[in-house]
Amino acid sequence: MHAITIRPHDPTSLRLDDVASPPVSDGSVLVRALSLGICGTDREIVAGHYGDPPAGEERLIIGHESLGRVEQAPSGCGFDRGDLVVGIVRRPDPVPCPACAAGEWDMCRNGRYTERGIKSRHGYGAQQFRVEPDFLIKLDPALDRLGVLLEPTSVVAKAWEHALRIATRGPAWRPRIGLVTGAGPVGLLAAMMGVQHGLEMHVFDRATDGPKPGLVRQLGAVYRTSLDDIWPDIVIECTGAGSVVRDVMDRTTADGVVCLAGLTSGSHELTFDIGDLDRSMVLENHAVFGSVNANRRHYAAAAAALAKADRDWLAGLITRRVPLSRWREAFERRNDDIKVVLDFD
Ligand code: BGC
Repeated sequence: MHAITIRPHDPTSLRLDDVASPPVSDGSVLVRALSLGICGTDREIVAGHYGDPPAGEERLIIGHESLGRVEQAPSGCGFDRGDLVVGIVRRPDPVPCPACAAGEWDMCRNGRYTERGIKSRHGYGAQQFRVEPDFLIKLDPALDRLGVLLEPTSVVAKAWEHALRIATRGPAWRPRIGLVTGAGPVGLLAAMMGVQHGLEMHVFDRATDGPKPGLVRQLGAVYRTSLDDIWPDIVIECTGAGSVVRDVMDRTTADGVVCLAGLTSGSHELTFDIGDLDRSMVLENHAVFGSVNANRRHYAAAAAALAKADRDWLAGLITRRVPLSRWREAFERRNDDIKVVLDFD
């Protein structure tokens, strides 16, 4: 079968390989791939900045935003042939740490977790893959090809769960205004979930044309190309851009919360007054926290969020579908790309 592989940390090594069928040790459920979402993490791996192969191997099958149909499943495992499914990305560390032992592998405390297609485990970028039933999510069949958005939605489901938990640490206050920075797929899905949580949502991005402003407005949210005059209660920062990270850190209302959900690549030096930042954070009870990955509960929340979202709006996030025969194009960055998806069939 075909699989997209790379030798991690070698930016010249991406290729479409012929590889053996997935081993049963990957899991008892055999899935035929339909689609694979490509994200910034994949591009970082392709550029040689990130990723690890499985122990004892040189190459890694990449891909972590999966969508497929069950081809074979042991009876009684909860899955049947034909089910529309998505594989969970992270696996708990082998120790396990207290978080992993409780099924909260997204909060792993010793860093020994593995991730499919990213860290020490082959990914879902292959025509077939196997998954353990406990790490597979069944989707509403009506979502069809839009199910490929589940993994990025799980990441924002976790970010919102934690942000709302932190924001409501004082009993007398409910967040009302939310700001998302970055109108990429993660930012737009974060805005969608913010609207579903009942917040007045604002989305900041530098783009002045293309599909982003319209997609934000269709959500009933406000599109902004400047951060002036907005004082949100919760910020979900999805750009990972140093200057935006800096700007949102003291832009919340008193008791406000900033969730950093975008990864900054490389090193960026910025000059700012830590005294000012400290004073505003302490005197106004600000909280800034990071959020990564998602556990099973967040995948379930994400599946529910996608099921109640407007299908046409979700379809608008997928701006390019690339067939396997032209797989390389899926890793190119083009103007107006939001989510690029590789189709396997
Ligand atoms: C994935 C997460 C993963 C993170 C760090 C993201 O792109 O969506 O599941 O934990 O990268 O590897």
